[in-house]
Amino acid sequence: MKIAILASGAGSNAANIIQHFKNTPVQISLIACNKADAGVFQIAKDNQIDSILLTKENFKTSDQFVNELQQRQIDLVILAGFLWLVPSNLVKAFADRIINIHPALLPKFGGKGMYGHFVHEAVHEAQEVESGITIHLVNEEFDKGKILFQAKASVENCSASEIEQKVRALEIEHFPKAIENFISKM
Ligand code: GAR
Repeated sequence: MKIAILASGAGSNAANIIQHFKNTPVQISLIACNKADAGVFQIAKDNQIDSILLTKENFKTSDQFVNELQQRQIDLVILAGFLWLVPSNLVKAFADRIINIHPALLPKFGGKGMYGHFVHEAVHEAQEVESGITIHLVNEEFDKGKILFQAKASVENCSASEIEQKVRALEIEHFPKAIENFISKM
């Protein structure tokens, strides 16, 4: 079982997934990221995992990245804080084989521009009493694919940064296990 992780930032979820699957038959074979200075490249290096910088050219306007995944015999693609929309050539090539984590309880607080702290600020503004994580399959629209798993936390009277802390704890606890569970049914 070979996984490619796509990320755009610090990569704490990527690091946690790598750690979880160490010394198992599940291999994290590739890390791909669209930001040259993102922390996730260092995580790839520290774990001796190949990494690729994604560009408009190789990701959005050609089949280069899809070909790369196929050549590497990748079985499953994980979006761990990845902020670009997944192009339809990739969605089609990996139908029901791309999983995203979203830091809120979809279908609320999803869509374009809803990522990272913007999500937690919106949840705070809306005075929600609970927030959480949604792990879902990826289709051509932001945050619209089939929901696989959700976990909730009470966020009543929490600031946006307190909400973020609670949601991040849920991500660390549940994301690798949800991936493992999905793989067991593949
Ligand atoms: C995570 O909280 C993830 O849920 C979120 O970005 C963060 C990435 O952190 N993803 C989205 O907002 C997607 N719309 P990380 O780089 O430390 O894993």
